[in-house]
Amino acid sequence: KITRVQGRRVWDSRGRPTVEAEITTTSGRRGRAIAPAGASRGSGEATDLRDGGVRLGGLDVRGAVHNVETRIADALIGHPVADQEGIDGILDALDPTPTRSDLGGNATVSVSLAALHAAAAVADLPVWRHLNPSPTRIPRPQIQIIGGGAHAARRVDLQDFMVVPLSATRIDDALEQVAEVYLSVGRIFAERGPSLGVADEGGFWPAVAANEEALSILTRGIEQTGLVPGVDVAISLDIAASEFETHGRYTLASEDRVLDGDAWRSVVEGWLAVYPIVAVEDPAGEHDAPGMRAFTRSLGDRSLVVGDDYLVTDPQRIERAAAEGACNTALIKVNQAGTVTRTSQAHAAARRAGWSTIVSARSGETEDISVAHLAVGWDADILKVGSITRGERTAKWNELIRIDSEMGGLPLAPFPTTAARVG
Ligand code: PGA
Ligand code: ZN
Repeated sequence: KITRVQGRRVWDSRGRPTVEAEITTTSGRRGRAIAPAGASRGSGEATDLRDGGVRLGGLDVRGAVHNVETRIADALIGHPVADQEGIDGILDALDPTPTRSDLGGNATVSVSLAALHAAAAVADLPVWRHLNPSPTRIPRPQIQIIGGGAHAARRVDLQDFMVVPLSATRIDDALEQVAEVYLSVGRIFAERGPSLGVADEGGFWPAVAANEEALSILTRGIEQTGLVPGVDVAISLDIAASEFETHGRYTLASEDRVLDGDAWRSVVEGWLAVYPIVAVEDPAGEHDAPGMRAFTRSLGDRSLVVGDDYLVTDPQRIERAAAEGACNTALIKVNQAGTVTRTSQAHAAARRAGWSTIVSARSGETEDISVAHLAVGWDADILKVGSITRGERTAKWNELIRIDSEMGGLPLAPFPTTAARVG
């Protein structure tokens, strides 16, 4: 049973306050978790409760911490910790708003995850094993090399220029290949001029003139390692188009041009024809449903078409999108859904639709490694946590290595074949 629920204010990778929850049980075993925070958020996702005002830019979370220690603690103390659905049901009942605006998504997600960790501790198991006693594969990593969009002061419009190792069959080899690509792209940037630092998730700052230049540098970076682009290592993009779409028009500010939906789709189709791109996330804005369907029709046989802001880890939205032929892959983020149970329902909804799944961290992260455990426990196809640098990112990759070694070495999940997955 839960005997204590504590909340505390801790700090994330952008130097912003966030919520940690810790749950203690009758046995004395504890679990704790920290809420991550997004920067390019979908309008339908759970929102963090922030204090407002001037201190810390209005971003303080004392109100959310207070909610953990008062209303949530009062409701959960005495409840069996292994009853994740019951605990999450209590959180839902305490705050029935669709975006958790009353308690704060940061309060609910930290408590929900802390309960999962506490239940695993009571069972004396790591969280991944508590969720799945015998996983058969490790999610394939999708790793940022160059950052952009809202994570890099909009120096380019696209948000994530990532790579996916395709031919590697073990996590060790996959990460080694990505590290080679990271070093190689770093050398290309170094030859071009002084380093301008890194974007929010640790990828290189995009010191480029246009979106496409980042694609060509990334492709060259892969080639220069001796790996074959599109065969050994491919490119994947999080376009995060909601950040530059309004009323169906797409503004590429870094290139000084505004495109209608069809022209924008031609641009992206052109990139797929030239560069080894195997996944595009949020190619259309979150309100541009016809755009997302058109992208899925035109690219879905060649590429994962991933919904993030478009789906916001909402099981009903995933079902609707699948029925309408929008997307073929769901991005799964616990803090978009607000609880572990709702997130797992979203993951299951994507599976029912025959889709692939990508479990994802946020741009504001911490040392919390829950996301690696969820990805293994739920048997996700892919894990996305940013770059292969910075502790809040490597914490997750290194956890995959530990899980793999504890299991005596598992194959990586195959990169999903997309042709069969288009609605
Ligand atoms: P965010 O970005 O965490 O800033 O929302 C990650 C993503 O868009 O996938
Ligand atoms: Zn995204």
